[in-house]
Amino acid sequence: MSTPFSTLLADRLSRRDFLARTQGVAVAAGLATAVPSAVASAVASGKSPSSRALTAIAPSKADALVVADGLRYDKVVAAGDALWPGDPGLSAADLKSLAWLDESAAARQDRRFGVNNDALAFFADAGSHRRGTLCVNHEYVQPQLVFAGLTAAGAERGKARDAWIAAHPQAVPWMQSAHGVSVLTLQRGLRGWQVQPGTTATRRITATTPMEIAGPARGHVLMRTVANPSGTVALGTFANCAGGKTPWGTYLTAEENIQDYFGGAASWAASTDDQLTRETHRRWPIKERSVYGWDIVDPRFDLRREPREPFRHGWIVEIDPSDPTAPPRKRTALGRFCHEGANTILTRDGRVAAYMGDDTKFEYVYKFVTRDRFDPHNRAANRDLLDHGVLYVARFDATGNGEWLPLVHDEQGPLNSRNGFTSQGDVVIKCRAAADLLGATPMDRPEDVEPNPRTGRVYMALTKNADRAQKRGDFSGREIDFGADAANPRLTNDFGHIIELIEADDDAASTRFKWNVFLLAGDPRVSNSKFLTRAEDVVPGRLERGDTYYAGFADRTQVSPIACPDNLGFDPSGKLWIVTDADGDLIANNGCYVVPTEGPERGLLRQLASAPVGAEVCGCEFTPDGTTLFLSVQHPGEGGTVDRPVSHWPDGNGLPARSAVVALSREDGKPL
Ligand code: FEO
Ligand code: CA
Ligand code: CA
Repeated sequence: MSTPFSTLLADRLSRRDFLARTQGVAVAAGLATAVPSAVASAVASGKSPSSRALTAIAPSKADALVVADGLRYDKVVAAGDALWPGDPGLSAADLKSLAWLDESAAARQDRRFGVNNDALAFFADAGSHRRGTLCVNHEYVQPQLVFAGLTAAGAERGKARDAWIAAHPQAVPWMQSAHGVSVLTLQRGLRGWQVQPGTTATRRITATTPMEIAGPARGHVLMRTVANPSGTVALGTFANCAGGKTPWGTYLTAEENIQDYFGGAASWAASTDDQLTRETHRRWPIKERSVYGWDIVDPRFDLRREPREPFRHGWIVEIDPSDPTAPPRKRTALGRFCHEGANTILTRDGRVAAYMGDDTKFEYVYKFVTRDRFDPHNRAANRDLLDHGVLYVARFDATGNGEWLPLVHDEQGPLNSRNGFTSQGDVVIKCRAAADLLGATPMDRPEDVEPNPRTGRVYMALTKNADRAQKRGDFSGREIDFGADAANPRLTNDFGHIIELIEADDDAASTRFKWNVFLLAGDPRVSNSKFLTRAEDVVPGRLERGDTYYAGFADRTQVSPIACPDNLGFDPSGKLWIVTDADGDLIANNGCYVVPTEGPERGLLRQLASAPVGAEVCGCEFTPDGTTLFLSVQHPGEGGTVDRPVSHWPDGNGLPARSAVVALSREDGKPL
C-alpha cells in the first residue's frame, strides 16, 4: 500500500504554507513526503543540506559503476531476474547461447524483470522508510545484446535481420514480454534494498497486456483496427521511456519511439486510398522496414494489415501500482507524441499539471492541466482526472517570456475542421500537427520536463540536436526553419542544455511564463571553448559548439563536465539531479550529477556517479526521506554484442552485461 494521499496532501499543503512564509513565494506542491527537520531548516535558510559534503568524481571510462567517496550502491534487480519464487531467472551466463530462446521463453519472461530498465517511480508504504513499490519501465531490446550469434548489423533494419527473425520467430514474443513495465515490492534490510518476490503488488505489464483507451481519442475512427473495431482497447505498451507519478499515487509511463516497431509503411501507402490514415501518419512517419522486425511475425505491427495500430501507441499510460487488477489506461487527453515523461505538480487551486517533452529533434514541450481538482480525501474520485483538461504546447520568445498555447479543437481557431481537426480526438491523435499550427517552438529533443517540488520552477532537459546548422527543410513530415533561436541557441548542440521555466504567479496553471537557459552542457575544462558566466552571453550567433554556461556559477574549476542531460529528479531538499545519455566518446561514460538551483551554489554541478561502458543512466528517483537514490543503468555494453561484449557489468567474470536498477546511498545513512 502506498502512503494515503490525505497524508501526502496535508504534508504538501503544510510545506507550501511553510515555504510561503519563509521564502515569500507560493510554492506549488510536489510529491515528496515527510521533510526531515534538518532539510526544512536548510531550505528555510536557503542552503542545500550536505552540498559540498560529497566530492565530485572525475569523468570515467571504467567498466564499473563508479561512485563518489562516501557513497555506496547496491544492485537491486537486473534484466531477466525472477519476480516470482521458484524461477531461476534468465542469467548473464544463459545469454551466452540461444538455448533459452524456445517456444516458452515469452511465457517465462512474463514473470521476469524486463530488459533496458528506464524510468523508476517509488511509492513508499505508509509510514515506512524500508518498504514500498517500485515501478520500472522496460524501454526496448537491443537484439545483439541479448541474442547470441547476432551482430549489430544483423540486428538493424535489413535483409540479414529479417532472415534472423524468420529463423527465430519466438524472439518476437519474447521481446514483447521483455518490454513494458515491472511493478515490484522492495524492502530495505541489512543487504540494502531487495526485491520481495511474488507479493500481491508484483506485476508485469508487457507489449501485449490489454489496456483501456481513455480520453478524447477513445473510439475515434483512427483508433479502430481489425482486431478492435470499437477503438477502445489496445494491446500493450512499449518503448516506455521516462515516466512520472500522480498525486493520488499512480504511475505514468511514457510511450516514446513507437515508430520503430512498425513496418510495411511504403508498400501499404502505395496500395491504399485511405487518405485520412496516410495523412495522419505523415507527421510521425513509419518506415517500410521496422527496426525490430516484429511485423515479420506479428500482423499487428504490419501496416498492410493494421494501418491504424500505430495511433493506439505514443500515449501516456496510467498504472495503479496498488491495484494489480486495474487495467492500465492510455490517457489520450495528454496527446500523442514521442513521450519522454509526465511529471506532475499541483496548481494553486488544487488541480494537477503534468509537464511533458516530445523527444525528437525539433519537437515540442507540452503541459496538461486537469479540469477538476485533485481530491486528497477520496482516491477513487481522482481515477479519471487525466481524461479532462487542457493540453498546451510551449512557445519560447526571444524576450525570455513564453506562452502555453492551448491545443483545443475550436472552429474559430486554427484547430478547425478545415485544417483536419473535427474533434478533440483529432487534436490529440494529430498532436504534433496541431502544435505546428499554433506556432510552438521546435526544441533540441525535449527529454524530462520536471517541476522542482520546492520552488515550482520547471526544468527541461534538451538532450542534443546537431541539425540546426541546416537550411529550411523537411523534418518529421513538416517543413521548418532550421537555425538557432534563443531557447535553442547552439547550431551544433552536441552536448545539450537545460532550460529553467518560471510560471507566471508561480502557478502551474498559468498560460504565461518566463524562461532562461540554466545549463549549457559541455566540458568547461577544454581551454579553447568559453565558460560563460553571464546570462546575456548565452545567445544564438555567439555560441560555439563547446561553450558552456552553468547558471552563472563563476568558477569553471569547481564544476564537472556533463553531456546530454536526459532524465531529471529532485531530492527532498530541492537540489536538481541529472542523469545523462551521451555517446561515450563525447566526454567519458554517462553519469549522475547534482546541482543546486537556488542560493550561492546555484550552478555548482558535481558528478557523483559514472556508469559502466555503453550505458546511459536513467530513473533518478528518491525515497521520500532522501536517503536512497534509485538509478537505472540502461544498456551497459552498447557497442558490443553477446559474443563480443564491451561491458561485463554487473555480473563480471567475462559475462555479457545486463541492465540493472541500483540503489545509491551515503555510507553514513544521511540524505544524499
Ligand atoms: Fe528514451 Fe528520450 O530517451
Ligand atoms: Ca530518456
Ligand atoms: Ca536520451
